Amino acid sequence: MSALVRSIGSVSTTAIGLGGMGLSIEKRPSRDIAISVIHDALDAGCRHLDTAWAYYMSGGQEQHNEMLIREALESWKGPREEVFVATKAGHFRNFTDGVPTWDVNGAPEALIRYGKQSAQALGVDAIDLLYFHRPDPKVPYNESIEGMKALYDEGVAKKIGISNASIEQIDIARSILGDALVAVQNQLSPIYTQSLDTVEYTKKLGLAFVSWSPLGGFRKPKDETKYDAFKRIAVMREVGYQQIVLAWELAMGEHMFVLPGAHRSQTILDSMKADQITLTEQEITQLNEVL
Ligand SMILES: NC(=O)c1ccc[n+]([C@@H]2O[C@H](COP(=O)([O-])OP(=O)(O)OC[C@H]3O[C@@H](n4cnc5c(N)ncnc54)[C@H](OP(=O)(O)O)[C@@H]3O)[C@@H](O)[C@H]2O)c1
Repeated sequence: MSALVRSIGSVSTTAIGLGGMGLSIEKRPSRDIAISVIHDALDAGCRHLDTAWAYYMSGGQEQHNEMLIREALESWKGPREEVFVATKAGHFRNFTDGVPTWDVNGAPEALIRYGKQSAQALGVDAIDLLYFHRPDPKVPYNESIEGMKALYDEGVAKKIGISNASIEQIDIARSILGDALVAVQNQLSPIYTQSLDTVEYTKKLGLAFVSWSPLGGFRKPKDETKYDAFKRIAVMREVGYQQIVLAWELAMGEHMFVLPGAHRSQTILDSMKADQITLTEQEITQLNEVL
């Protein structure tokens, strides 16, 4: 069966992308396993990889995931030119007292530096899609977006996205970037539905909505009761409930993309089957009870 393909701006790619974070931060698998997870996803038809400058797990390893993806693509036997790689600039990690945390730097000059480093690590002249990773409270949003625009104008990025953005921030980004802005990557899952306003707003504007931690993530304990309705439908359909979660998100509109993460091939290969599931209106109504 062929994978579901949708448009981000003028480019088509698979609606289900592999989220690379778990392959490079704390609790990551060995490099060999990480490469095989990426290869197995690509072999199964995934053409959308999501990474970030900040996916690494200790000082000195910056851009670990971008370099991992480059290595995986270089050793993959399939058609590299079909693979859409998105990355993000603006986050970095702190390891004070050995405790890893996430920090932001949205200064335009920092974003320009990060963006160029990302292109270098990925081994490309121009990045397919470069997101501004997260608003920096110390920097006015329009100034950060001007930094992203400079990267677009210089040809470092073919298209720009924003992540962790509100409706107001989407409007600011559009006013500066115009058609160069093609995607909003926000958190969305049964345990995190606060972004539904941006799901609707991006649909209205014709922007892609790319869901991060679409299954609820692996880093924090979850309220499992939010998955009960998904589990009931999964039993009836004889699939894992994660496929129902992803199918529910994809059913929110033609502009929807999901980025399930995986530490092993089995989970991404299972998740990729979600685009073959068409939920009935009755099932969607039941699932929307979590909203
Ligand atoms: N823009 C942002 O600020 C931002 C923030 C966070 C994440 N992200 C993006 O979102 C991606 C995904 O996020 P995430 O990894 O936190 O969350 P996630 O995709 O919601 O959850 C990943 C977890 O779900 C499990 N899983 C995945 N597919 C499964 C399946 N079919 N059946 C059973 N278990 C399954 C994985 O298991 P295994 O561990 O067993 O493989 C992993 O533990 C990241 O890689 C990153 O690209 C972006």
